[in-house]
Amino acid sequence: MPFHRSPLRTLTALGAALFTTLAGAQGWPSKPITLVVPFAAGGPTDVVARLLGGAMTTSLKQTVVIENKTGAGGTIAAGAVARAAPDGYTFLIHHNGMGTAPSLYRKLTYNPLTDFEYVTQVVDVPMTLLGRKDLPAKDFKELLAYLKANAAKVNLAHAGLGAVSHLCGMLFRQAIGVELTTVPYQGTGPAMNALLAGQVDLLCDQTTQTTQHIKAGSVKLYGVTTLQRLKTLPDAPTLAEQGLPGFQVVVWHGIYAPKGTPKEALDKFGAAIKAALKDPAVGPKLAELGAITVSDDKLTPAGLQTWLQAETQRYAPVIKAAGQFAD
Ligand code: MLT
Repeated sequence: MPFHRSPLRTLTALGAALFTTLAGAQGWPSKPITLVVPFAAGGPTDVVARLLGGAMTTSLKQTVVIENKTGAGGTIAAGAVARAAPDGYTFLIHHNGMGTAPSLYRKLTYNPLTDFEYVTQVVDVPMTLLGRKDLPAKDFKELLAYLKANAAKVNLAHAGLGAVSHLCGMLFRQAIGVELTTVPYQGTGPAMNALLAGQVDLLCDQTTQTTQHIKAGSVKLYGVTTLQRLKTLPDAPTLAEQGLPGFQVVVWHGIYAPKGTPKEALDKFGAAIKAALKDPAVGPKLAELGAITVSDDKLTPAGLQTWLQAETQRYAPVIKAAGQFAD
């Protein structure tokens, strides 16, 4: 028997089609946008994402939902975003881990250089080498002596292979020639909680999380990982000036979307990030936490792409020499 649509069903279908067309014509964004953070809530990447997301929710008139997708040093989140629908509603904030993962992981489920659209770089963030408050060493010189004498019982927290806390810890161990036991967490948010609770001894982490704890005196600060001292922590010596010449780890952040995401969404999300960085409630707060907004040439898709390519090549020999890999 032939199928006849009732007039009511035809009208309903026409209405639905019209609604879809109108929603599309309204342009992007017409629903909440997800910004995936590859580490735990409360940590430094999360701090940057939530500050930006708050301002962007206002400017885009749609909620920017922060989703913490943890695991495997940020590679689980990056893989999930690479495979997400390229509809303009999923973005990723990630750091140096996008450049180190291809050398660290033998079986990476995505290619950082080909599976994403690039939106922009965001901020650069220095790191700090911290100890638990009651660690016996009162300064860096004493720390070195303490580590050499107690290597077997000292542990260093980090956020997994691919995390910058791991990279910093690995470079530090190499520089001082002492093997330390490492303890992985799902992000440096929980790693910092463990340090504050005295459950781990050392953590190298970004100033976007550590500044408040350093200022409160709840951790010991042994040095900063930039070549120059920081304006925000002027009394803190660099590791380079304390006997580790050239020791430098600066964390850079980029925003990515799945390959094929519409240009309108990429352009508008990028413009909203730039506006958020200039927002009086965001820019000064980030600066107070030691974050530095990148120069205008890096605040572009090409700026991020070129930087990622260079970083991927730069890290490959360093990681090969360190010989730390995962499947
Ligand atoms: C975090 O947000 O937890 C950190 O960026 C992790 C890391 O050390 O890379």
